[in-house]
Amino acid sequence: MNALFNDWDLPAPPPRTNTLSSVTLSSADPAARPPAPGDAPDGAPIVVAGATPAALAIGAEPLSALALAPVRAADKRIVNGKADINQLAPFKYPWAWEFFLNANKNHWTPLEISMAQDVHDYHHKLTATERHVFENVLSYLTTSDILAMRNIGLAVMEKMSAPELQIYQARQVYEEALHTWTYQHCIESLGLDQQEIYNRYRVVPAIHGKIALANRRLERIMRSDFDLTNRDNLHEFALSYLFFAGIFEGCWFYNGFSPIFALQRRGLMKGTAEQLQYIMRDEVLHCAFGIRVVRTLLAEENLQLDPAALARLWEEAEAAEQAYASFLLAEPILGYSAAQHMGQFHFVANRRARQLGIAEPFPGAENVLPWLDEQANMRKEKNFFETRVTEYQTGGALAWD
Ligand SMILES: [Fe+2]
Ligand SMILES: [Fe+2]
Repeated sequence: MNALFNDWDLPAPPPRTNTLSSVTLSSADPAARPPAPGDAPDGAPIVVAGATPAALAIGAEPLSALALAPVRAADKRIVNGKADINQLAPFKYPWAWEFFLNANKNHWTPLEISMAQDVHDYHHKLTATERHVFENVLSYLTTSDILAMRNIGLAVMEKMSAPELQIYQARQVYEEALHTWTYQHCIESLGLDQQEIYNRYRVVPAIHGKIALANRRLERIMRSDFDLTNRDNLHEFALSYLFFAGIFEGCWFYNGFSPIFALQRRGLMKGTAEQLQYIMRDEVLHCAFGIRVVRTLLAEENLQLDPAALARLWEEAEAAEQAYASFLLAEPILGYSAAQHMGQFHFVANRRARQLGIAEPFPGAENVLPWLDEQANMRKEKNFFETRVTEYQTGGALAWD
């Protein structure tokens, strides 16, 4: 057996010498906040019920008591909070916990969806133009989901200072990894050249443009010296989270899926499309959660987003999407064109702006693909014997927005 895994025979580490009593777990200065129900009088130590010195001993040294002030929901903040991050309740953001519970209702793995018909469709039914669209969509999506995972796991989650936010984001990190597995499963099932597909974002300018835009934002907020007590940095962080949740996930992923749904609508590549429907269910939540965090952050911090910075954000996103659409759909496929792709982008972008409580970037944009919501929504009639039942979700939490 590999000694790195599950090797119970490794010698026990030497006893730790630190004790809990040497660690400051309380809000250091009881006078720094008003007393709360349950507080000990005059900031006196609170003795944890049932905690005997023996039970609390760590290593060789016993503990006599723990001087802990209770966590108060009011002390929690999205960022820069001082409340104990290791204590889930009391919740300040119960909606974040609800997001976590709802996310756990969308369980699947890509192995559960048959790709057999897709193999036939890809090799015998798709035109060269349709194969071009299909492959480049996969190429873009698979790179994007790794970026999405790194953003939430490495740049965003560590800045959150309430555990209920981090717990949903931990689930999101897993889901982004699952999405990458899903694309890989599609690529493998169809026998595509993995090296070539994965390398496209590095050699196709239209794909690289979108990835580079996201990478630039990610790298800035991942800087080790990025201090969120600085108001400029806080503004940049809010804008970056807004970009990832509202545009990268909320617009670009939606637009990323729609060409495949157009094929699905004609009975083609239905296995891949079903995989994407599961991914989209997750992305609906990622987008909604991120937007809610951003709105709450702005309110908590009394932060106003700079209208010029927002306008630049939308301009960059639109230009990158236009370049992508022009490359991807230089020739339209039946039922889906570059113009429709961009119309859809503008329409969804306005929806995200309304959710964010900011001005619509593309006033008057119309829903040019009215079938898309229906196509993308998992809850539709299916032949029970033809495919697995996917309508097990209860409640309205995952409703297509
Ligand atoms: Fe994803
Ligand atoms: Fe996502």
